[in-house]
Parts: sequence; C-alpha cells; structure tokens
Amino acid sequence: PHSYDFIVVANRLPVDRSVDAEGNPTWKRSPGGLVTALAPVMENNDGAWVGWHGAPNEKIKPFDEGNMHLVPVPLSDEDVEMYYEGFSNATLWPLYHDVIVSPEYHRTWWDRYSLVNQRFADAATKIAAPNATVWVQDYQLQLVPALLRVARPDLHIGFFNHIPFPPAEIFAQLPRRAQILDGLLGADLIGFQRQSDANNFLRCVRRLRGHSVRGSAVHVYDDAGLPTHISRAEAHPISIDTQRIIDLAKSPKVQARAEEIRRELGNPETVLLGVDRLDYTKGIAHRIKAFGELLDEGRLSVGQACLVQVASPSRERVGSYLNLREEVEGLVGRINGEHDTLSHTAIRYLHHSYPVEEMVALYMVADVILVTALRDGMNLVAKEYVASQEDQIGVLVLSEFAGAADQLRHAILINPHDIDDLKDAIVRAVEMPEAEATRRMRIMRRHILSQDVTRWSETFLRSLKKDPTRNEA
Ligand code: G6P
Repeated sequence: PHSYDFIVVANRLPVDRSVDAEGNPTWKRSPGGLVTALAPVMENNDGAWVGWHGAPNEKIKPFDEGNMHLVPVPLSDEDVEMYYEGFSNATLWPLYHDVIVSPEYHRTWWDRYSLVNQRFADAATKIAAPNATVWVQDYQLQLVPALLRVARPDLHIGFFNHIPFPPAEIFAQLPRRAQILDGLLGADLIGFQRQSDANNFLRCVRRLRGHSVRGSAVHVYDDAGLPTHISRAEAHPISIDTQRIIDLAKSPKVQARAEEIRRELGNPETVLLGVDRLDYTKGIAHRIKAFGELLDEGRLSVGQACLVQVASPSRERVGSYLNLREEVEGLVGRINGEHDTLSHTAIRYLHHSYPVEEMVALYMVADVILVTALRDGMNLVAKEYVASQEDQIGVLVLSEFAGAADQLRHAILINPHDIDDLKDAIVRAVEMPEAEATRRMRIMRRHILSQDVTRWSETFLRSLKKDPTRNEA
C-alpha cells in the first residue's frame, strides 16, 4: 500500500457530499480556509487527509478528490453522541470558551473520546511514510499527538488548536486534564491562535505536569524522570484565503448580487451585518439586544438602519445550542414585533448557511459588521469582511475577546458584555466619517493582504521542521 509524506488529521474531511447531474452521490471540496491553505502542500508533498466524512454509521473507502487522498474515519451513532456532541462539544468547547455555559463531565464521554482519538491515530500511522510530517488539527483530537509519538517515533508531529486555550484556573477543572496535556505534548510543535493561549498552555504544563518550561520550549520527562523530548508552544494566528475573497469582491456577478440585496432590503441608509454559526460563544444575543435598545431609544430607526443576522445551523442536537436558538429567536421576534412596519423589518434573521459568493455579496452590502464574540479562537468573518472591502469604507466592530483583535487593531474594539459600550460603538460605526473609516480599513487591509492562510501554514510547517535542540546553548 502507498504511504504518504504529509498527513493532515482533522475531525472533518475537507469535502461535502453532493449529488451530480446524473443523480449520483459525489464529493465536493468544502470552501474552508484550512483546505485552501493545505491543498497545495498536500499536492506538492504526496499528502493525505484523515477525517470524518460527516455521516454517522457509514463506512467509506479511501478515495481521491483532485490531488488529495482522503481517508474517511467512520463514527457510529454512539461515537457521534459521546465523542463529538459529548466530550468535544459539551465538555471541551464550553470549558475552552470561558465556561460561558457549564461544561458537562461524563466518564463514558471521556472513554469514547480516547477510543475515537486512537482510531484517528491508527488511521494516520498506517499510511505515514518513514519520517513523514503529520499535522493534527483542533480540540477534538488532542490525544492524537502522543498516540502517534508512541507508535511512530520517526514522525514529525504538529498540532494546531483552532480555539482558545483556557487559563490554568479553568483548565484545572477538567477531569483527565493530565492526559489531555500529555496528549498535546506528544507534538513537536503546538500552535495556538494567540500568544495568550500559548502562555495559558505553558502555565498548565508547568503547574499540572511539573515539566520545566524555557521560553516556548517544554522539556518533557517520562514517569521515571528521564528526558524524552522537547515540545514547543507557539502563537501562529490563522488567516483566510485573501485573494479568493478579493477576486469574488471584484467579480461582476457578485457585485450585481450585492446591488440586488441592497434593493431587496429596501435601500436602507445603513446595513449592519452579523455572520456566525449559531453558537453561544458568538455573542449574538448581546448584539441583537444592543440593536433593539438603540431602536427603543430612537438612536436608530427602522427603515434607516437594518440588521441582517446570518446564523448558520450548528451542533443542533447539543442542549445549549437548542436553548440559544430559542433565546435568539425570541429576541428577534420581540424586537421585530415592536419595531417593524408593513414595509420595513428591523432584523432580517436567517437561520441558513450560504455559499461564499453570497457571503461576499453580503459583506459588500454591509456598512458595518458586528463581531461581538464573548470568546473566539480567531474569527475569520472579521478577516473576510476586511478583505472584501475593496472600496475601503466598511466599519468593523470587533470584540477584544476574538483572536482577530490581535491583528485588527484598527477596528472599533469593544467589550460585548458591556451593552452600553456596544451601543455607543454601533452608533459611532454608523456615523463614522468616510475619511476615518477609510484610514482604518486601509491599515487593516494591508495586514490581511500580507498575512493570508498560505503564509500561516508555511510559517507553522517551517517552525515544525526546526530542531529545537540545536538552538540550545
Ligand atoms: C470551529 C472549530 C472547528 C469546527 C467548526 C465547525 O471552527 O474550531 O474544529 O470544525 O467550528 O463545527 P463542527 O462541529 O460543525 O465541525
């Protein structure tokens, strides 16, 4: 059997199932930035991607998509319930996002998480060439790096955490916290979105595992007190496929669609936009509440301003997501009921997901975008909005609790918990003179243009190849 020099291991494969003209099921590459960044690396390096295909209880043989080799990992209904919805999304997700909702701890979920992590690791080791590079992605697979290291000490192992890493005081709650840290420390390089995430991780390692930390390097010892290897924790903020967004923003079709959307909305003076997965980390209710109060107080009015909120369906079988949907839809209904007229709607709430062309058209229509996350690893919507502003006059209102705030310092930065601060920021954004909006947007665009997602993967992989022992004096 063929073996591969570069392997990505992620919970999801970078493809969505669709149906072709003859009605046969096929796979289409999903639009995400991660696959855009990694596809060229895979094509140049004989690469493969190990991940779940999204359908429970279905076994699918490895197959090729374009120049990528895809290896589906099967998940049963119980795996989905305990590994994905349970430990990943009802334990780790809230714990890593400032315990916005309470994490649930169940021992059976942990057991299943370990079992499924082992399955992903096995799938990777089976196809890895000698000395191959394996890059593991995100919180669903934190045990995989150490499992790989035990099975295949020859591999170069990278890990990237797409979501925040919590402060030690919060992380310490997690039952099996030591196993999670040891799992991650199996990697030669562990990447985080922000330096503060890397610092949180290093503090956890020092306090809960007693390893010695020098700068970004962790000197890992085994149970007998013998040194095994050095693992490094670094900040590598992810970005977007900037050129793709720019090309779409320039395409006549998308521009025409943007004009059409503005007309459909009734040509309001100001279009405000929110785009998120329907997730409690995103601060959707905070933003809607702030907008509603501005209408109540007459600082904004219906017809003059309109809020478009795209909330794409997500993790719909997890309880806290069901509750959030009720809350948001109740709020939207109340505000619209109070403020709509027969001809105008205050909030256009769309519980759908849209193709990227439609999203870019919406970004172009939006005079102001509201990114009010209570906690977010990065937030790529903020970066996509900036990339799509060819005319440089849109205004970005951005939560300081999103990783993107480290790079987009010229946004209007807000604390979304402070509703009055958020309201003032919205009014300031709506009223911002064009010259100031342009000046801010130009600086942010310069950054996004030079730091795209290809740059991110190249920088990470270059650092992974460095031998840390050589820099030691
Ligand atoms: C976040 C996570 C990803 C995840 C995505 C969508 O961005 O960091 O790992 O894939 O959300 O969530 P889902 O549960 O549908 O994969």
